[in-house]
Amino acid sequence: MHIDISHLSKSYGETLALDDFTYSFHSGISAILGPNGAGKTTLMNLITDCTRRQGGEILYDGTDILKLGKCFRQKLGFMPQNQGMYEQMTAWDFLAYMAQIKGLKKKAAQAQIRELLAVVNLEAAAHQKVGGFSGGMRQRVMLAQAMLGQPEILLLDEPTAGLDPEERIRLRGYIERLATDKIVLITTHITSDVENIADKILLMNHGKLLFASDRIEFISGCNADTLEGAYVKRLHTP
Ligand SMILES: Nc1ncnc2c1ncn2[C@@H]1O[C@H](COP(=O)(O)OP(=O)(O)OP(=O)(O)O)[C@@H](O)[C@H]1O
Ligand SMILES: [Mg+2]
Repeated sequence: MHIDISHLSKSYGETLALDDFTYSFHSGISAILGPNGAGKTTLMNLITDCTRRQGGEILYDGTDILKLGKCFRQKLGFMPQNQGMYEQMTAWDFLAYMAQIKGLKKKAAQAQIRELLAVVNLEAAAHQKVGGFSGGMRQRVMLAQAMLGQPEILLLDEPTAGLDPEERIRLRGYIERLATDKIVLITTHITSDVENIADKILLMNHGKLLFASDRIEFISGCNADTLEGAYVKRLHTP
C-alpha cells in the first residue's frame, strides 16, 4: 500500500502553491510540517482530488488516482482544515449523513458512530446540534467523520488545532494505534503532537519539499534535541 507522487504542481494565479513535489507515502504516520502558506493543504486537496492538479501524477499502488476515481475516494478519510458543517444537524445525524455518503450500511454505520463518538469524547453531546458546539468540539466531530468506514488512507489537516491538551493526548494515542496498517498524513504546527508518533517527517516551504526523513534522523541529523528545534534549523539551513 503506497501513494507515489511525482512532479506534482499547482498554481493559483501567480502563486505556485505546490512546486514539483515528489515523494512516496507508505503505511504509518507521515507528518507534514512547514510555515503558513507552505503548500500543505494544497497537497492534501490534490491527493483527495478536491483540487485540479496542473502537472505531475499521484499513483495509488501503481494506478493514477484520477483513473481509480470513486474506488480511490472510498479508501480515503479526510479531515479538512476549513470545516464546513451542517449547523442544524446533531453530531449523530451529521455522522450518519457522512456514513451514508461513504456508502456504509446502516447497522455498521451506527456501531462505528457510537465507537467514534467515544473516541473523540463526544458521547454526551451526540444528540446536540453542531451549531452550538465549541471550536474544539466541531474539530472532534470532523475527526470522527474522517475515520468513518475505517479508511486505508487518512488525511488529517491540522487535526489538533484548537483542542485542549487532554483531548490532544487522547487523539494522539488513538491515531498512533490505528496507523499501523494505514497511510496517515498529518499536517500540524504543534510539533509535540507528532514528535513521538510520526514515522516520517516532511518539511515544506514555498510549495517545495525541503527535507524528508525518518523522525529520528530529522532531529538528530541536524544536532537538534527536539522536533521543534530541528524544524527551525532545517527551515533556515539550505
Ligand atoms: N484557493 C486558493 N486561491 C488562491 N490562492 C490559494 C488558494 N489556496 C491556497 N492558495 C495559496 O497557495 C499557497 C499555499 O497555501 P496552502 O493553504 O496550501 O498552505 P498551508 O501550508 O496549508 O498553510 P497553513 O499552515 O496556513 O495552513 C499560499 O500562498 C496560499 O495563499
Ligand atoms: Mg493549511
